[in-house]
Amino acid sequence: MLVYVMKINLPDATVRFFCILNQLRVDLMFKDLWQRRVKLVEENLLAELEKISVLDEKVVQAMEYSLMSGGKRLRPILLMAAADAAGSDGEKFLSVAGAIEMIHTYSLIHDDLPAMDNDDYRRGKLTSHKVFGEAMAILAGDALLTFAFEIMARQENVSPEVLLSVVREMSTAAGAAGMVGGQAIDLESEGKKIDMATLKKMHLGKTGALFKAAIRSGAILAGADEEKLSALTRYAEFFGLAFQITDDILDVIGDEKNLGKPIGSDERNHKSTYVTLTSLDEAKILAEETINGALDALKIFGGEADFLRELVKYSIKRNK
Ligand code: IPE
Ligand code: IPE
Ligand code: MG
Ligand code: MG
Ligand code: MG
Repeated sequence: MLVYVMKINLPDATVRFFCILNQLRVDLMFKDLWQRRVKLVEENLLAELEKISVLDEKVVQAMEYSLMSGGKRLRPILLMAAADAAGSDGEKFLSVAGAIEMIHTYSLIHDDLPAMDNDDYRRGKLTSHKVFGEAMAILAGDALLTFAFEIMARQENVSPEVLLSVVREMSTAAGAAGMVGGQAIDLESEGKKIDMATLKKMHLGKTGALFKAAIRSGAILAGADEEKLSALTRYAEFFGLAFQITDDILDVIGDEKNLGKPIGSDERNHKSTYVTLTSLDEAKILAEETINGALDALKIFGGEADFLRELVKYSIKRNK
């Protein structure tokens, strides 16, 4: 009898054991690579800032203040991870990865302004306008946005054609067809009940567009073929959605200390979010379902996309 039971159970247990071992390996790889690359990105950002021939100290200080205040660096990490998945070494594109962090940081400085979300804290520190004044915060944002494109245009290890594609991705994503467009829907929807289709459109713009540009740019820089590029694009769309649903959830139940930004900002500004349009529980379920979509999009890849798989799982488990 015992032998019979073991015959049935042993393979199962063995498979489970190897699954757990493999997950441990992937977890370790994920943390390790993440930490290493965050450090690389931060060194790169500082080095780029030092290249500016300064006309006015204050605006550069304001750029550095927000840029070096410890974000998660998700967009550069995604850019590099997409390049890895497409068969290259993402770190070859560190400067372009840093450039997208500059675009993101500009969007946050402007998002926090009194005319927009009017938030006083970001990444655990006073927001730019609280420290440097509104006008200087606007200029720091403007300068970060344009500096990003200067950096991209300076890359010498990438062919001009590829560089042009990346610039096209980034500029479309940052502008009226992307982040700015989404932010405009967000502002115009304040105090109104919008439908789910509008909410999705808003999120795809305000958050999704830059994530998509990061991932597609990484893939393009790595020379991805059409099949890989479209799989990574599909992953990016799910990633952006999962991330923003979680941002909406954290705005309600997050911990301000971990988040480094005030919770309740959406409610204060009468915003429609996944939580207000569905419920907290439904929003959590939606985020889970979105993860499955993202993982499914990566089916054509092997271990080279493990980091992206972990990243999307993290995007809804995160507490900051
Ligand atoms: C916050 O983005 C703003 C949104 C797009 C929802 P992140 O959560 O990536 O912010 P940081 O860069 O880690 O501070
Ligand atoms: C901001 O969305 C997205 C951009 C900055 C483009 P939110 O307003 O929800 O971001 P948080 O919650 O302030 O970080
Ligand atoms: Mg906002
Ligand atoms: Mg905001
Ligand atoms: Mg938010």
